[in-house]
Amino acid sequence: MNANARQVATYLQKSKCTVILTGAGMSTESGIPDFRSENGLWHGRDPMTIATPEALETDYETFFNFYLARLEALDEASPHKGHQILAKWEENGFTHHVATQNVDGFHRQAGQQHISELHGSIQAIRCHDCNMKASDEKFRSKGACSACGGRLRPDIVLFGEMLPQQEWERSIEMISEAELVLVIGTSLQVAPVSQLPNLTPGQKVWINQEAPEREEWFDLTIQGKAGEILTEIDQMLSQPES
Ligand code: OAD
Repeated sequence: MNANARQVATYLQKSKCTVILTGAGMSTESGIPDFRSENGLWHGRDPMTIATPEALETDYETFFNFYLARLEALDEASPHKGHQILAKWEENGFTHHVATQNVDGFHRQAGQQHISELHGSIQAIRCHDCNMKASDEKFRSKGACSACGGRLRPDIVLFGEMLPQQEWERSIEMISEAELVLVIGTSLQVAPVSQLPNLTPGQKVWINQEAPEREEWFDLTIQGKAGEILTEIDQMLSQPES
């Protein structure tokens, strides 16, 4: 028995407002790589040459190929047990909001209702120039905007762009009220999301394959795979303490 998993189950049972903050490590068990691990998408690549408005405008080929490959990878993937457990906890009243940096839509697909997609959604396509919505097929066939002829892109947040305001404000509001925040599968290296855990008056739990950079920021840390740890906590929620 993992004593820390038992402790998180106890926290969840006591907390009246629990927020989950997720990053790319939440989806690696679905077969989607994260960014900064050894097999991550940024390994050997400079994100500034791909995931910025400047890259889109000056090297659309590289930008397009990168996001097309990510969309195609999602065709073969689906949410895993960890996503489903988080959705179930929301339904059962254990958690109240998910703030995610992930653009894969897995939390929604798993049935999560109260969610802020802080970096947007890769499946939503729009024109970079006039914002007009476009279809996924149009983007995949490298088509142009039918309104203005502009370049199509996923409706995600690129480096240097603003986060969607409503989603951001909702996350701040929820995290400021939270009694418990579970930070799952994120390196917390990208601002402004990296600041969110500091805004809670509540307890902070780190669930990640790696140790946090600042251990002292967290009340409890559990190292391991998100899906496996969430499964363990879930089992403890349904077991009386022995
Ligand atoms: P990172 O790749 O920076 O961090 C992922 C974290 O998850 C790492 O600490 C991994 O050790 C951990 N991890 C990997 N697999 C795991 C698993 N199965 N269980 C638990 N932990 C696991 O990804 P993010 O923190 O999400 O933004 O990155 C934040 C932002 O940077 C992304 O949204 C993206 C990226 O550049 C943009 O593209 C604008």
